[in-house]
Amino acid sequence: MHQLLPLCVFWLLPLALMLEDKTQLDCIPRRSVPYHGDNAHLFHEEGVFNYTTMLLREDLNLLVLGAREAVYALDLKDISRKVASVKWEVTKEQKDTCKNKGKDPETECLNYIRILHKTEDDRIYVCGTNAFDPECDYMSYADGNLTLEKKGEDGRGKCPFDPYQRYATIMVGNDLFSATSKNFLGSDPVLMRSSPVSIRTEFKNSWLNDPNFVSMALMPDSKNSLDGDDDKIYLFFSETAVEYDYYNKPVVSRVARVCKGDVGGQRILQKKWTTFLKARMDCPVLGSQLPFIIQETYHWCDPSQNRRDCLFYAIFTSQSDTSDWSAVCAYRVSDINRVFAEGKYKSPVHVEMYFVKWVTYYGDVPVPRPGACINNKAREANIYTTLDLPDRTLQFIKNRPIMDEVVLPVGEKPVLVRRGAKFTSIVVNQVQAADGGKYHVMFIGTEKGSVLKAVNYNGVMFIIEEIQVFEPAKPIKILRISTVTGQIYAGTDFGAAQIPLATCSRSSTCIDCVLSRDPYCGWDKTVGKCVFLSNADSELIQSVKEGNAFLCPDADPVKPVSWVTWPGGTLNLSCPSPSNLAKPRWELDNTSVTPSAHLQLLQHRLLILNVSVSDAGWYRCSAVERSTTDEFTTIVAEYQVTVDIAGSGRGGQLLPQAQTDGPSVTGLQAIVALLVVSLVASLACNFYKGHLPLPWNCGKKNRDQTQGAFDQEAMNSRVIDPEAQRPAKAENKPLVSATHGNGNNYSAEVAFPAVRDETDAPSGNESLQFIDYESEL
Ligand SMILES: *[C@@H]1O[C@H](CO)[C@@H](O)[C@H](O)[C@H]1NC(C)=O
Ligand SMILES: *[C@@H]1O[C@H](CO)[C@@H](O)[C@H](O)[C@H]1NC(C)=O
Ligand SMILES: *[C@@H]1O[C@H](CO)[C@@H](O)[C@H](O)[C@H]1NC(C)=O
Ligand SMILES: *[C@@H]1O[C@H](CO)[C@@H](O)[C@H](O)[C@H]1NC(C)=O
Ligand SMILES: *[C@@H]1O[C@H](CO)[C@@H](O)[C@H](O)[C@H]1NC(C)=O
Ligand SMILES: *[C@@H]1O[C@H](CO)[C@@H](O)[C@H](O)[C@H]1NC(C)=O
Ligand SMILES: *[C@@H]1O[C@H](CO)[C@@H](O)[C@H](O)[C@H]1NC(C)=O
Repeated sequence: MHQLLPLCVFWLLPLALMLEDKTQLDCIPRRSVPYHGDNAHLFHEEGVFNYTTMLLREDLNLLVLGAREAVYALDLKDISRKVASVKWEVTKEQKDTCKNKGKDPETECLNYIRILHKTEDDRIYVCGTNAFDPECDYMSYADGNLTLEKKGEDGRGKCPFDPYQRYATIMVGNDLFSATSKNFLGSDPVLMRSSPVSIRTEFKNSWLNDPNFVSMALMPDSKNSLDGDDDKIYLFFSETAVEYDYYNKPVVSRVARVCKGDVGGQRILQKKWTTFLKARMDCPVLGSQLPFIIQETYHWCDPSQNRRDCLFYAIFTSQSDTSDWSAVCAYRVSDINRVFAEGKYKSPVHVEMYFVKWVTYYGDVPVPRPGACINNKAREANIYTTLDLPDRTLQFIKNRPIMDEVVLPVGEKPVLVRRGAKFTSIVVNQVQAADGGKYHVMFIGTEKGSVLKAVNYNGVMFIIEEIQVFEPAKPIKILRISTVTGQIYAGTDFGAAQIPLATCSRSSTCIDCVLSRDPYCGWDKTVGKCVFLSNADSELIQSVKEGNAFLCPDADPVKPVSWVTWPGGTLNLSCPSPSNLAKPRWELDNTSVTPSAHLQLLQHRLLILNVSVSDAGWYRCSAVERSTTDEFTTIVAEYQVTVDIAGSGRGGQLLPQAQTDGPSVTGLQAIVALLVVSLVASLACNFYKGHLPLPWNCGKKNRDQTQGAFDQEAMNSRVIDPEAQRPAKAENKPLVSATHGNGNNYSAEVAFPAVRDETDAPSGNESLQFIDYESEL
């Protein structure tokens, strides 16, 4: 037994360290913003679903939104304002044909708008699944009208047949690059360019093997290129890996690349890509066995900087059903290019008759390099298009499209990891903070209809807030950002929403504003508000990297609230901290309280059960929050609690009597007499006159309860909740009540709100505002 102990420590310690590491990795949003109509501008039209395709037309001040059987043109500044719309419905015949092929007429045999791209002549190219028979068309917007030209172009290979299948497209000039399945069965995946000469991928599972297409991006490398390079198209997807000899082939994430000007080969790879290369992409999340799977990307480039510094932000989720981890990794375009331009290839080796092993290729690589775009060097060798490429190069690329090297993210680790609602979409914006530094703010859509706003400061992830944008909580399927309007646009199956980049006014104090570390927001001392950076005239207090709130002026003292309770009652004091990262600290008469069964520290509140005289005193709740530099304490609330012995005395005396004898006229007289004695005489008298006829109505609720339920009710009704003192609630919730419930019990609660001039504090009369008297008489 004793010999096992060191062994246990030996094995368990690393495990414990790993677990600790993992919990540190899990990033909690500092602020959770619950759903509220003011969080976002919403758009939704009755009976229309699947608002999952978007095109920003900043030139027209429009958001073009594709849904099921409809396209909308919405005001980009306020998408709840519909400017125009056009229906694109399937005909009865199309629906019948689709149904006869075994598809569901109510879900699959409809027209899901899947593609919306701007064309060179400023029209819109639009494609829909069209009842499992994809079709494309041109659409124009003029004088407030959205018009479909009804061109009826074949959409096969451009747009998916199956509305549930993932796809990716991009429009370059007037050429559509698309990655989808080209047939009805969804079994012919292609990456293709629809142009006068259409080019597609080879029919080989080493090229595409049961892929899930994610996204596409263009890198305009030909611009200002010194070596006459071509533009490149990147495709992100996941697929079943062919190159690992595991029993179960794992799914891996990929980045593939083709050159824009590729026209296919002469004899080999005719009308096929001669420049298709792909590499595995990893987002290493600590402790995960299977690789995480890519779900969405965002292509970020600093307009003022070299394109080589461009990044791809990508969302990954766990491959295992039991894990709910999501991650964001950032990849340098230059790192991806290096793997394609200089990396080794993988090569298939036939080990036995049917068994193929993929190994690193160490042999001679033909010239021009397989997969390279045509550049000046190739032109010097009289190779002007891919048609001029030698067979050796083409044969090589046909058989070896997989790179040996894996593309790793910046820093070789994720920029964000989180458990819970899976990430679905991402956009990134760069903002220059008050310190002059430029920060990348990530906006991440989740499966639960929320948007996370996160930054990675010096390698440490930080989620500024999580905003619940949609209710009910449905997955966000698309996210777009407009730097022109400073808005984020999100789409779900049930509607679209628009939120601003920042709502600084959510912070009401300087400490909260600074600790939120939101690079868009700073504290303006002159107006005493947390404001949007670019709206500010004066210098702001902001400390995004450190969260240093020492620069903040002293906060206004909180206004104390007075409470009177009685022995045996329950005290429910609230302490609403603006931050999930802050720990509440409660003090009673300047000494910190220790939790017990009697005194419970809950999140955002303190609960004291069976109050006794010794519980009276001055309660103070502070939020203690650690930033990278220091610990900051904000006093959130103060309560002066008085315990009224008189109340309990009455209860104690009356209780046994009432229980044995039942309600009687004598009993009532005793209660009234005691009330008069214990409460301020004139006010009690007032109450008695004013409310005696009422108890039947007020008590109705209690009388309807069963005896057992009443105990609970009695318990709850005696809880004094400061939040219930807000004006709106105060109207129907008694501030003061004397209860003679169920004829058998008696209790009283008295609250003296001390503050009158604050909106949060009870408005109204100094002490007794309303007395609820119940009796079974
Ligand atoms: C736009 O639509 C309105 C209403 O249908 C119509 O009166 C108007 O002539 C249309 N404008 C154009 C340019 O088609
Ligand atoms: C369209 O939206 C409905 C929700 O009304 C959903 O059930 C369905 O799965 C969605 N279809 C697709 C293809 O996403
Ligand atoms: C304390 O008050 C809050 C807010 O009104 C309420 O949700 C909670 O249930 C109360 N706690 C108890 C034990 O009554
Ligand atoms: C708590 O401390 C403050 C100053 O430190 C003092 O003014 C106050 O009287 C103290 N309160 C109690 C109840 O001791
Ligand atoms: C409440 O506290 C008193 C003394 O403070 C104690 O006698 C009584 O048993 C307690 N009641 C409950 C239900 O804990
Ligand atoms: C009266 O209130 C006391 C204190 O909460 C409770 O212990 C007792 O069960 C109640 N009696 C009845 C009859 O409801
Ligand atoms: C005080 O109570 C009286 C009578 O209930 C009411 O008319 C008056 O508006 C109250 N005062 C305030 C400030 O609410």
